[in-house]
Amino acid sequence: MTSLNVVILAAGQGKRMRSRLPKVLHPIAGKPMLAHVIDKARALLPAHIVVVYGHGGETVRETLAAADVVWAKQEPQLGTGHAVLQALPHLDPALPTLVLYGDVPLTRGATLANLVAIADTGMALLTVELADPTGYGRIVRHDGAIQRIVEEKDADAAERAIREINTGILVAPTAALARWLPTLGNRNAQGEYYLTDIVALAVAEKLALRSAHPAAIWEVEGVNSKSQLAQLERIHQHRCADALMEQGVTLADPARIDVRGELVCGMDVSIDVGCVFEGRVELGDEVSVGPHCVLKDVTIGAGTRLNAYCHLDGATVGADNAIGPYARLRPGTTLADDVHIGNFVEVKNSTVAAHSKANHLAYVGDATVGSRVNIGAGTITCNYDGANKHRTVIEDDVFIGSDTQLVAPVTVGRGATLGAGTTLTRDAPPEQLTLSRAKQVTVPGWQRPVKQKKD
Ligand code: UD1
Ligand code: CA
Repeated sequence: MTSLNVVILAAGQGKRMRSRLPKVLHPIAGKPMLAHVIDKARALLPAHIVVVYGHGGETVRETLAAADVVWAKQEPQLGTGHAVLQALPHLDPALPTLVLYGDVPLTRGATLANLVAIADTGMALLTVELADPTGYGRIVRHDGAIQRIVEEKDADAAERAIREINTGILVAPTAALARWLPTLGNRNAQGEYYLTDIVALAVAEKLALRSAHPAAIWEVEGVNSKSQLAQLERIHQHRCADALMEQGVTLADPARIDVRGELVCGMDVSIDVGCVFEGRVELGDEVSVGPHCVLKDVTIGAGTRLNAYCHLDGATVGADNAIGPYARLRPGTTLADDVHIGNFVEVKNSTVAAHSKANHLAYVGDATVGSRVNIGAGTITCNYDGANKHRTVIEDDVFIGSDTQLVAPVTVGRGATLGAGTTLTRDAPPEQLTLSRAKQVTVPGWQRPVKQKKD
């Protein structure tokens, strides 16, 4: 494929979002709309990507600082033609230029590649037929050949009846843009410099002018309101769900899954309703994810079962684990194989070796837990002294009785048993029972107080 320039128009205000956040930063699948457009552009391997920004522009630039693009400021915003003019100095005049909108996030790469291909050395417009074309620029043809684009506000009744509309996405020779854009006028209903006026100029120059349709209308739908944002989010999520099912993943309901990043699944993975996947999530073969789990940046080994309502963030889980319901794994957690983490158990910055269990109500933080360890209900690693964090080491084959506090730094030696209710402040030696507990007493002859009678 020949190389190209890409210009992304993103200077519009987006008042109808009713938000302090610039429109193009509103997320689809957890990622700013503009980042979707930049990624689609980048996949075409262009020589230059120029983003035209304006309103709220500094926030846009800061948020997408990592994106390797050229920023061109448009201030004030005098129309789409004026916007592309701002990008012109950054474009290679020998390459064609593809114009995209920062608020049209879901265009497929294949649609763009096709448009670039059919443009060749001429011009190409991405158009679509709409049942209700209200508000859009209309494609005026004569004997099938495109003559010009007329904006809704400038159109007469016959032109308004045209259902083929301009999506705004087009390819044009950059040298021609350099010739045309400075000559555009703004004597139209909106007093703007219309990029669309270049179509008539191309026709006058007898430049080859082609058009193509996207495979689906949502590819060219823009976001102007929260309602449109939500509609495109659902379309995007349905496509993610379809792709997962295509790979063999079982989804309890493809309408009730949200993938806000990259979800990689092995064979025979099943995912129940209401789950949210963020960042990069990898699920091994035969992993099952129960309803309403939230997973962010986690790797889960084969055969592991996540029960309902688990929250996992920055964790690595081995094979054949049983997690939850209601478990929380926080960043820095690494669980080996056959580990059980049960309800209301929180694990943070800890490693747990194979065959160990913490089945109920525990906090395991900054700990190194060995193999075949049993952590009883209500166990807490007291890792924080108010100023610093300290580690707890629990060696292999340890049994920790319920309601134990391990005041770190502390080590429980291999095979040790801690009696229920222990507050461990010094290391527990291996193979022995350690407990800290006031001796149990029974008070002979003690009687319960009785309620005094009122006279
Ligand atoms: C534009 C097209 C119209 C098309 C429609 C598709 C023109 C004159 N009209 O109309 O034919 O049917 O898009 O949605 O091009 N922008 C800037 N700077 C500006 C003005 C706009 O960067 O000065 C950006 C906006 O942020 C947006 C895009 O350009 O991403 C389109 O702007 P918008 O105001 O939505 O264009 P329309 O008038 O709807
Ligand atoms: Ca628009």
